Amino acid sequence: MWKMNQYLPLFLIASCLFFISHSQTISNTSSQHRCLPDQSSTLLQLRKEFVEKRTNPDDYSGVSYPKMKSWKADTDCCSSWDGVTCDAHNGHVIGLDLSKSWLCGPLNSNSSLFRLRHLQKLDLALNDFSSSTTIPSEFGQLVRLTHLNLSWSILYGRIPSEISWLSNLVSLDLSCNADLNLRRNDLEALVQNMTYLRELHLDNVNISSSLPQSLANLSSLTSLSLPYCNLLGEFPSDIFLLPKIQAIDVSGNYNLTGFLPNFRSGSSLKKLRLSSMNFSGELLDAIGNLKSLNFLDLSQSYFSRELSNSIGNLESLSHLDLSWANFFGELPNSIGNLKSLSHLDLSGANFSGELPNSIGNLKSLSHLESATLNP
Ligand SMILES: *[C@@H]1O[C@H](CO)[C@@H](O)[C@H](O)[C@H]1NC(C)=O
Ligand SMILES: *[C@@H]1O[C@H](CO)[C@@H](O)[C@H](O)[C@H]1NC(C)=O
Ligand SMILES: *[C@@H]1O[C@H](CO)[C@@H](O)[C@H](O)[C@H]1NC(C)=O
Ligand SMILES: *[C@@H]1O[C@H](CO)[C@@H](O)[C@H](O)[C@H]1NC(C)=O
Ligand SMILES: *[C@@H]1O[C@H](CO)[C@@H](O)[C@H](O)[C@H]1NC(C)=O
Ligand SMILES: *[C@@H]1O[C@H](CO)[C@@H](O)[C@H](O)[C@H]1NC(C)=O
Ligand SMILES: *[C@@H]1O[C@H](CO)[C@@H](O)[C@H](O)[C@H]1NC(C)=O
Ligand SMILES: *[C@@H]1O[C@H](CO)[C@@H](O)[C@H](O)[C@H]1NC(C)=O
Ligand SMILES: *[C@@H]1O[C@H](CO)[C@@H](O)[C@H](O)[C@H]1NC(C)=O
Repeated sequence: MWKMNQYLPLFLIASCLFFISHSQTISNTSSQHRCLPDQSSTLLQLRKEFVEKRTNPDDYSGVSYPKMKSWKADTDCCSSWDGVTCDAHNGHVIGLDLSKSWLCGPLNSNSSLFRLRHLQKLDLALNDFSSSTTIPSEFGQLVRLTHLNLSWSILYGRIPSEISWLSNLVSLDLSCNADLNLRRNDLEALVQNMTYLRELHLDNVNISSSLPQSLANLSSLTSLSLPYCNLLGEFPSDIFLLPKIQAIDVSGNYNLTGFLPNFRSGSSLKKLRLSSMNFSGELLDAIGNLKSLNFLDLSQSYFSRELSNSIGNLESLSHLDLSWANFFGELPNSIGNLKSLSHLDLSGANFSGELPNSIGNLKSLSHLESATLNP
């Protein structure tokens, strides 16, 4: 039985499933150095802290299996233990990928995990730590971490401020847990300290505050995913203009206000998900500068003007969702220029007139919803 179903409404899960398809593996079993005895005994103790219980259906998460089964005391942890990566020079365990590994049990503050001080990549996603009381503050001691993934693991409570000590992180994913919350102060400290951050994914984490302006100072950021975080106040629109940004998802934050900026040409944005939030103003002509954009979701948004004709310049766009959006006037004819478009949703959108004939040019279109255009 997949326990998370009990805690999260289905639409939240759907928003999270979106990201599941791209999972990353960090294990590398070919290594010259043999396992250090203290490292293997620490790992074996870690194994004892959990029972093996299948918690996630494979159709959501890809194939899952108990990786720790291959951990045997008489074998070399660096070369034959699934999910373990060692430093080839000194044998320290530097990577642990126990995602989808049927781990069930609490993550306690006295866990052997926190003795693996050389860890750089740690992936514990898609397990069941629901018997934990909170995320232990001891995570803050794993200061060498560059990658931390605790998504989908049924964790609760306040994210400890010590997380912000992990100043080497380039990727942090705490998405889609049961009921995590992050205080404004801790978010600010995190953003201030994690200056190398490329991916920040906090889907469904209850933040209940505005975003710090300093987020727009994370110049390495490529992916910011903050859907359904109860964000308030105004979204710092400079984030849209970060030099390396490729994906932004702030959907489902009904009280988040903001404006789209004057996008520059050369933007690397590929995915924008701005549905079910309180952005307003115009969708400026500059949107046509987003030549790399392939996914645009503006459903249930409040852009109060006509849809800019320059939408037809988005030559890479394959997914366009304008359902229940507040645009008025006609759907621009230029929509027929979107040669890559395969998914177009106009249901409930406030466009007037008929669908432009140019829609017939969209040879890649495989999904069209347009039920309720105004007469
Ligand atoms: C974290 O793990 C989940 C599940 O495997 C995966 O879908 C997600 O892409 C990972 N997050 C990052 C930032 O790589
Ligand atoms: C594993 O590590 C070796 C040596 O460090 C490297 O040559 C190889 O490309 C790595 N393999 C993978 C799959 O990362
Ligand atoms: C670790 O902490 C848990 C909960 O606080 C406790 O039940 C357990 O006995 C402790 N384990 C060790 C090895 O101290
Ligand atoms: C930043 O991280 C360092 C350790 O890496 C820590 O000592 C410091 O308190 C952190 N700063 C904040 C604002 O959390
Ligand atoms: C989110 O956090 C706020 C402030 O801590 C709290 O008032 C609210 O009830 C929380 N919302 C949910 C859905 O847990
Ligand atoms: C962002 O960086 C600039 C220049 O590095 C600095 O002056 C500014 O105070 C920073 N802003 C925030 C909110 O941290
Ligand atoms: C949305 O923003 C407008 C101002 O731009 C404000 O008047 C309105 O109350 C906001 N709605 C919500 C649900 O926050
Ligand atoms: C956010 O907006 C919803 C309505 O869209 C409202 O019910 C809720 O109270 C608002 N939350 C906060 C914290 O303002
Ligand atoms: C829908 O569009 C019409 C004009 O096409 C406009 O008068 C009306 O205000 C729009 N409705 C909303 C809710 O934006």
